[in-house]
Amino acid sequence: MDKFLIRGGKALRGTVKVSGAKNSALPAMAAALLTAEPVKLHNVPKVRDLITMSKLLAFIGARVSVTELPAGDYLIEARALNDAEAPYDLVKTMRASILTLGPLMARAGVARVSLPGGCAIGARPVDLHLSALEKMGAEIVTSHGYIEAKVHGNGSRGRRLKGAHIVFEKITVTGTENILMAAALAEGETILENAAREPEVTDLAEMLRKMGAQISGDGSSTLRIRGVEKLHGTEHSVIPDRIEAGTFLLAGAITGGDLTIANCVPEHLGAVVAKMEQTGVPMEIVDKTTIRVRRAKKLAASDMTTEEYPGFATDMQAQYMALATQAEGTSAITETICENRYLHASEMMRMGAHISVEGRRAVVRGPAALSGTTVQTSDLRASAGLVLAGLVASGETIIDRVYHIDRGYEGIVEKLRGVGANIERIHGPGPETKQSALTAAR
Ligand code: EPU
Repeated sequence: MDKFLIRGGKALRGTVKVSGAKNSALPAMAAALLTAEPVKLHNVPKVRDLITMSKLLAFIGARVSVTELPAGDYLIEARALNDAEAPYDLVKTMRASILTLGPLMARAGVARVSLPGGCAIGARPVDLHLSALEKMGAEIVTSHGYIEAKVHGNGSRGRRLKGAHIVFEKITVTGTENILMAAALAEGETILENAAREPEVTDLAEMLRKMGAQISGDGSSTLRIRGVEKLHGTEHSVIPDRIEAGTFLLAGAITGGDLTIANCVPEHLGAVVAKMEQTGVPMEIVDKTTIRVRRAKKLAASDMTTEEYPGFATDMQAQYMALATQAEGTSAITETICENRYLHASEMMRMGAHISVEGRRAVVRGPAALSGTTVQTSDLRASAGLVLAGLVASGETIIDRVYHIDRGYEGIVEKLRGVGANIERIHGPGPETKQSALTAAR
């Protein structure tokens, strides 16, 4: 397994370019299952989760073509679905595999998708996806670890789901995306209330509209989808990754540098920018795709609560915790989205941070002089938080199990080196190295 070696203390300076959003590219790929015609996707980030999703689509029977490896452009043709199944071996490595459930039910009328199970950041059930599909006429049983779903009635294969009025008890991002895709080909109208408003949901709605879907209300919490009989092929470029952009913003701030983040959408980063301003970090929205962050005269503590979009994203919580260790004063962090997302806190404490965690609340007292050591990562964003901590720690920080970070950050080592960080990848043996993951996509 690969590791990162970071020698901290360098202020980041220069310009870093943001890649396409992993969490937009994943539903976009799944949406290609909704049509027999070719779908071309651009600005797909070159990260492991997208390779996993392409393997899954190929398993289901789609032709996935790329012209280079790793790929930023994909051509997907799902002429016929030979197997409406998402097997455990793929689902266990990526929960977003659940995004095939909606399209499979819509296109094939049947689906067999492995239950994702628990993960490092909490239980994360999919009950809301299932109950919404049931409202749309799906019969669902879970047995032997699989969700077995079919459209109610005789000869389910090829039957259509029915539009329904659905109110989500809780806001769910991939749940909203699954129902959006399922409803696009259902009979009649679906109204989805308490829907997620994340930019990735809006991006999916835009792609589906280009395929012929009739959707309105995206960006608000009520979506209206009038089902059509058929969707056609399209070409779509996924939006920039707001979490990657936010991670670089905080990297610039924590190292006291002068960093320009290009190819991003500042509008998607409102809560992060506002929070940075509260901590005293000078920020400048240079234009519609660029933000600049500079050294704070004094970094001040500020409380933060994670929320659904447009609030402060849970996917930025670990990175914010790293910043809070360097701020003067006490920052209370409240995690409201994921039940168990503080595994990075104990690793930061091993580096010298003063953090106490009680349930969903973490209290960080700063500033603390962090010192490098070997730390373990538990999930993608925890890894990003530990990289930020390593960038300000004295001495050497070794980040173990970086396959987590390779799931969602394209070329993070190269990008950080490009703006002056002293970070390198140490290749290790084992099935999870970057190279083996990329070759496997062939
Ligand atoms: N929830 C339920 N029942 C459901 C679905 C969700 O109780 O049926 C709960 C979850 O347990 C969680 C909350 O609702 O407490 C929100 O979960 P959500 O369904 O919104 O999460 P998700 O769709 O599985 C996406 C992102 C995550 C991100 C969360 C929250 C993708 C592929 N994943 O997950 O991204 O943390 O939304 O914003 O879009 C990451 O990129 O590192 C990542 C984990």
